[in-house]
Amino acid sequence: MSNENDSPAGLLQPEALTRAVKEATSAIEGASTPAELAAAKSACLGDKAPVSLARRAIGSLPGPERGEAGRNVNAARAEITAVFEARRAALEAEEAARILREETVDVTARTPRRRVGARHPISVQMDRIADLFVAMGYEIGEGPEVELEWFNFDALNIHPDHPARTMMDTFHLAGGDGGGGSGMVLRTHTSTVQIHTMLRREPPIYTVAPGRVYRTDELDATHSPVFHQTEGLVVDRGITMADLKGTLDHFAKSVFGPDAVTRLRPSYFPFTEPSAEVDVWFSAHKDGARWIEWGGCGMVNPRVLRACGIDPEVYSGFAFGMGVERALMLRHGITDMRDMTDGDVRFPAGLRVEE
Ligand code: DAH
Repeated sequence: MSNENDSPAGLLQPEALTRAVKEATSAIEGASTPAELAAAKSACLGDKAPVSLARRAIGSLPGPERGEAGRNVNAARAEITAVFEARRAALEAEEAARILREETVDVTARTPRRRVGARHPISVQMDRIADLFVAMGYEIGEGPEVELEWFNFDALNIHPDHPARTMMDTFHLAGGDGGGGSGMVLRTHTSTVQIHTMLRREPPIYTVAPGRVYRTDELDATHSPVFHQTEGLVVDRGITMADLKGTLDHFAKSVFGPDAVTRLRPSYFPFTEPSAEVDVWFSAHKDGARWIEWGGCGMVNPRVLRACGIDPEVYSGFAFGMGVERALMLRHGITDMRDMTDGDVRFPAGLRVEE
């Protein structure tokens, strides 16, 4: 563009100012980022912009013309400034909207859940049993796995020369006088928790104790040196064998299904009198419905109550002890116990053990 209006004085011509406004408007409105807008601003309003050059040219006009020229330049500049401000506000609003849109966090969005492994069916089963009894008002009982012989045997009326003491294949701890002349063993049954519970608190006692036990059995399809039991102990006034039977039936239904019932066969355990083996009617057995052996039970032997400082004339109680693995294996048709402890992560996935 090389017409006369490009001379400094020419820039003051009304058409030149109109053109400057028009060009500035299109440059500013064409800016779509803050950087482009800044560039447009310096081109249209900066030192070298036509309106700035025009303002500087005012001084070269004859005096009487300066007033009008000044007003025209100011009006043009004000117009461009207004266009600039409007564009800046628009770009800022767009940016704010973009941030809102792109950086919003939807706290209600569903995220894909990855299950990393699963709880072991034995743990799930023991928790379910604990829940069943807690729902009936029982407490969870606990005792150590490394145990004084006194708790594992003597207090349970299994004396040193008692045959039951050798029938249970016990892991004895080397060098072990655990105190009071009592050696140390890995507990062979959860019945130890009966003693801990009765020594710890007064009747009424309603306790269930799921736990790990140890015997010197070789690992094979049906034996393991480490396995789990659930012990139950109730001591209260007027407890009878009918209470025991009712409790076992309820327990059996939760483990083996709603049509399970128990039957008691006379047996012998030193810590209960009378004692019984518990059989359960398992209708879903893979080879057809049948009675299966489930555990032992009985009325707490008065000698055991006395060893724990409980008066058998006032209180009576029942106790039971069930294997956890055996019930799980039956329920799920598992034939080899080693499958449960191999640690193959695919193993629990195939079981219908609800958590
Ligand atoms: N402790 C026994 C065992 O491991 C099982 C048992 C039998 C527990 C009778 C009891 C019971 O509480 O009353 O073979």
